[in-house]
Amino acid sequence: MVRVRYRTADGIEGAFDASPGLSLMASAKAAGIDGIEAECGGSMVCATCQVYVAEAWLSTLEPPSEMEAEMVEYTRHPRPNSRLSCQIVMSEALDGIEIELPPSQR
Ligand code: FES
Repeated sequence: MVRVRYRTADGIEGAFDASPGLSLMASAKAAGIDGIEAECGGSMVCATCQVYVAEAWLSTLEPPSEMEAEMVEYTRHPRPNSRLSCQIVMSEALDGIEIELPPSQR
């Protein structure tokens, strides 16, 4: 298992275990984390799975595809460190990753 630390927009902190090979979104949904809607189920058409990845972890991730980068631009609360969690495939290298949830996904 890979540990994910998160913080909500209200400052509530927590952690959950993710499964290597699954997306961050799928693991967060399985753990019952509020704030990741993921309406399209990971097909990259809804952008309601946005998370902010801590700066220190950004370089550990594969860069976003052109499509993902475009989609996060059109979310309600984009930041330079915004990523779609359905496009982040968990691996041991991401153990301890820190993310923040946006104030809303719409
Ligand atoms: S779940 Fe829809 S874009 Fe990520």
